[in-house]
Amino acid sequence: MTDPKSITEYIDRALSEIEYPDEPAALYAPVKYTLDAGGKRLRPTLLLSVAKALGLNPDKAINQAIGIEMYHNFTLLHDDIMDNADLRRGRPTVHRRFSTNAAILSGDAMLTMAGIYISRCDDHHLRPVLDLYNRTAMEVYEGQQYDMDFEDRDDVTPDEYLNMIRLKTSVLIGCACEIGAILADADKETCKAFYDFGLYLGLGFQLRDDVLDTYGDPILFGKQIGGDILNKKKTWLLTMAMSLDNTGDLNRVLSSTTVGDDEKISSVRAIYDRLGLKIKCEELIADYSSRALKALASVEMPSEDRQYFIRLIDKLTTRNS
Ligand code: IPE
Ligand code: IPE
Ligand code: MG
Ligand code: MG
Ligand code: MG
Repeated sequence: MTDPKSITEYIDRALSEIEYPDEPAALYAPVKYTLDAGGKRLRPTLLLSVAKALGLNPDKAINQAIGIEMYHNFTLLHDDIMDNADLRRGRPTVHRRFSTNAAILSGDAMLTMAGIYISRCDDHHLRPVLDLYNRTAMEVYEGQQYDMDFEDRDDVTPDEYLNMIRLKTSVLIGCACEIGAILADADKETCKAFYDFGLYLGLGFQLRDDVLDTYGDPILFGKQIGGDILNKKKTWLLTMAMSLDNTGDLNRVLSSTTVGDDEKISSVRAIYDRLGLKIKCEELIADYSSRALKALASVEMPSEDRQYFIRLIDKLTTRNS
């Protein structure tokens, strides 16, 4: 297994082979439902690809790869409750398909299973891996809290937004990359280089997610379009629009209680277009892509692996799904 597609297939297979207790069925059904729905498997693919680029057989890191994907999926179950989201990966979200209580408790089970898988490693890797994972998990919650706090604030700056997405999204991608490096016995500089690579990649990745939330094709994206606008999410697009719009249009649309959801979404999108914000956001994403690439400049690896990371950055930050 050397190419990225087969790494992702390997992860899918490993996830599908997890054996769950039969009872209580209602605890495990949402876990299977979530993991069966696919997803890009970005974090575990990165973890195994980093390990492989540094000479480790991906078999030696598969438990941590599963654990990181399990943790990511746990965050999605709770995030969808918090964001009142109906669709995920083209299917009803767990709290819609089952119940809110099921999404909370099955999410809790996934969080614990994540820890179980992540700790299945050699004793000498256990401490650094767990320290990084636990620190990252706390940062994700901090990011998610800021994300919610910002819904009620109208003075969020683009920098505050960037710090929020660093926490809610990027640190986990950085963590996945660094765990791959730790397991491959990389030195401190290499571990940090891969963490930074994941961090910058994650910033571009979340900025792209925000663009797709407003401009994406719902079939390809698999999530409801316009959810961020309706939830008053302070995305980069919205924080920039708030600081640039001097016509009062944005405030009028956002505070209106008579405008319907679809009209609200298309009016806000029209304001973004008038201010050229989609293109500006894509420029910012490209800037993070080049920072991600630079982070790897001093790391020695086979050229096919470097090429793979270069293509991956491009694919993820220009993706439509
Ligand atoms: C969704 O993550 C949450 C964000 C951080 C944007 P992904 O876009 O990686 O979701 P899946 O796992 O591929 O469905
Ligand atoms: C998700 O951010 C971050 C986490 C789940 C930790 P979003 O709320 O933007 O993710 P989606 O759009 O629901 O996938
Ligand atoms: Mg969400
Ligand atoms: Mg959210
Ligand atoms: Mg989103």
